[in-house]
Amino acid sequence: MTLIETSTLDVQSLRSDFPILSTKIHGDKPLVYLDNAATTQRPRSVIDVMTTAYEEQYANVHRGIHWLSELSTDLYENARESIQCFINARRSHEIIFTSGTTASINLVARSWGDANVGQGDEILLTEMEHHSNLIPWHQLAQRTGCTIKFVPLTDDGLLVLDALDDLFSERTKLVSVVAVSNVLGTINPLETIIRRAHDAGALVLVDAAQSVPHSVTDVQKLDADFLAFSGHKMLGPSGIGALYGRESLLEAMPPFLGGGSMIHSADLDGFKPADLPAKFEAGTPPIVPALGMAAAVQYLEKVGLEAVHQHEHELTRKAHQVLQQSDEVRLLGPSPSEKAGIVSFVVEGVQANDLAMVLDEQGVAVRAGHHCAMPLHARMGVSASARASFYFYNTLEEVEKLGEALQAALRIFRR
Ligand code: ALA
Repeated sequence: MTLIETSTLDVQSLRSDFPILSTKIHGDKPLVYLDNAATTQRPRSVIDVMTTAYEEQYANVHRGIHWLSELSTDLYENARESIQCFINARRSHEIIFTSGTTASINLVARSWGDANVGQGDEILLTEMEHHSNLIPWHQLAQRTGCTIKFVPLTDDGLLVLDALDDLFSERTKLVSVVAVSNVLGTINPLETIIRRAHDAGALVLVDAAQSVPHSVTDVQKLDADFLAFSGHKMLGPSGIGALYGRESLLEAMPPFLGGGSMIHSADLDGFKPADLPAKFEAGTPPIVPALGMAAAVQYLEKVGLEAVHQHEHELTRKAHQVLQQSDEVRLLGPSPSEKAGIVSFVVEGVQANDLAMVLDEQGVAVRAGHHCAMPLHARMGVSASARASFYFYNTLEEVEKLGEALQAALRIFRR
């Protein structure tokens, strides 16, 4: 492969921070890891922070009056501050550590939803939501009798914003919308949607699982009410994520999980909840994963999210070029200028799983299936797709390799 000059990032140097990226698979094939929308890889600095924590700094937090517990508590709360700064929240207690985006959205649906949504109220979603931003609302509808409405999509996978006027009503309580589709890569116009929702008197939850890792997020500028994201999609460990919530909303919400740490006081007749953020962090939290997530934030800040975004845009443009070389390939979603580093595609007459297996034999890791977005696939008229998804450590050469592997796969399937 020839080396291709690209954006301002020194990608080769960054890649050397990621031990797993030099892996060879199936004997001698360099791993071409293009499954970053599912989960990302970890740089050495994240692994080291977690190892040091387990070897030297680990105790339970907010409990012991002993040196090690105080150290662990300080590190855990510093991690919260790192996440706060990363998304520009006003206060660190607006950051609730959860196990990931799914848990964050479920927290809002259970706590805010059960307290504020009733029979006949409306929740507005879009047709491109991941199941994690769909099923919790179906469950809320089952509990409360509320109605779910959906912003429709164009055939290119863009939201039909003209439909908003008809969709909003005085019963609209919440708009819950994905920032970047995990299938189409579509970057949604959040500021417009949030402004329209607030004008209609509704709150907005942003599923930012695929956007926070790849571009600058400023919850104050966005004016989002809730924003959910995961550590493992941004170089951190799995099992940790965050919910940002506007302070006044979180203050008013009842606790969701009950147990240790989330109470101010308890007796046999009841309990008084703790202040934020402890109110929403019952039980022993994911302590070391929180430190890992904060180390990931530090790494991303060093790389620079503008450069990350720019580089991924170049990868996406290249992916569209190489995949469109074959007429049999149908790309899902809009043009590269309207999408992030996620490119899903289908090949007429070929199962996505079979395609992914043949790509894997050549070292190229992509995801195949419905990507936890069955209604979206139905809207696109397919049951499954193959998906290449990029991070800043991917190279244009790797995208070329995807194209070559796909051509080789097509030759096999056409035999
Ligand atoms: N939500 C992740 C994906 O899209 C798992 O693959």
